[in-house]
Amino acid sequence: MNPSPSGPVLVTGATGRHGGTGPHLVHRLLEEGRRVRVLARRPGPRTRALEARGAEVVAGDLHDRRSLLEALAGVESAYFTYPIDAGVIAAAANYAAAVRESGQSVRTVVMSMGPAQPDHPSDRGRDQWLAEQVLMWGGLDVLVLRVTAAFHENIPLLHAASVAERGVIRNCFGDSRVPWINGSDAGELAVAALLHPERFDGPVCYPPGAEQLDHTAVAALVGALIGKPVRYEPVDRDTWRRELVQLSERDGAGVVNPDMAGHISAVAAAMAADGPTRPADPDALRALLGREPLTLADYLPTARHAFLTGDIETEPTAGART
Ligand SMILES: NC(=O)c1ccc[n+]([C@@H]2O[C@H](COP(=O)([O-])OP(=O)(O)OC[C@H]3O[C@@H](n4cnc5c(N)ncnc54)[C@H](OP(=O)(O)O)[C@@H]3O)[C@@H](O)[C@H]2O)c1
Repeated sequence: MNPSPSGPVLVTGATGRHGGTGPHLVHRLLEEGRRVRVLARRPGPRTRALEARGAEVVAGDLHDRRSLLEALAGVESAYFTYPIDAGVIAAAANYAAAVRESGQSVRTVVMSMGPAQPDHPSDRGRDQWLAEQVLMWGGLDVLVLRVTAAFHENIPLLHAASVAERGVIRNCFGDSRVPWINGSDAGELAVAALLHPERFDGPVCYPPGAEQLDHTAVAALVGALIGKPVRYEPVDRDTWRRELVQLSERDGAGVVNPDMAGHISAVAAAMAADGPTRPADPDALRALLGREPLTLADYLPTARHAFLTGDIETEPTAGART
């Protein structure tokens, strides 16, 4: 696989609001002098901001194969991401069919996660694995980044309301030491995979987290940040899933959704039982990124307002460090 020197890079997920890997890619690829084309479902302030930075925006939906053909015209490399929500298998099938129909060879970097395994207890993990199989069965030139760490951005997203209201973080990770990575570093892995493919073994690789912290340590960091005690309270898988479903009713942007609730509670319960599948490895992550990874202590101050107010902050952090 060779990096594309000329055609635009097609970026999906560029309006992202959870990990925000897509907007990070747009920002960094433009900074690196690459042409960027964004696939976006609908126009709005986020697409206008991307255009103002110099990206071309094309309307399209991964659930509408026909809309992908215009977006793929002249494209030699692309970034494929999909939120933690139902529908990733159909999205991948549409994308693979459109690439084949375009007749082009499109080197595609896929954002994925450790739980993308055929027998993972999470439905979304198994779906992500099958989506990646579909891309490979379609004969696409793919590099799949199964990031084996949780995004820092999960912490305010899932816990800011309970921290602000009751000074507590509740979940079913138990005392497992969770590997963590910042969403912008996950995005930077994809930038590196596009610009420096020699750093990655493909077609599937497992980039590690930057550090490991259990939720008692996370609660202590959040408490120090907001200047009030925050405690960690373990709950069982079903209790946490139900609490997240309730939280999803307060999240108008749909980032916390019932599918995500089922996924993250399954991942957490598996980690509590068996530990992380791969330990954090800051040296290996640094080598892939070509720079120092962000730590949780670096990131948390950007989420201070959310922990104080309980507002679920779904703005992307893209470009925050660049
Ligand atoms: N969260 C974690 O802890 C974690 C850890 C490791 C790996 N990951 C991986 O990260 C990935 C998510 O990346 P992210 O956090 O950057 O995503 P994100 O911020 O949640 O953004 C999702 C993007 O996908 C777009 N989208 C949704 N449905 C679409 C459709 N039908 N067609 C076209 N675009 C669509 C959304 O657009 P709209 O603005 O239109 O909604 C948005 O731009 C997941 O696949 C997961 O495997 C996550």
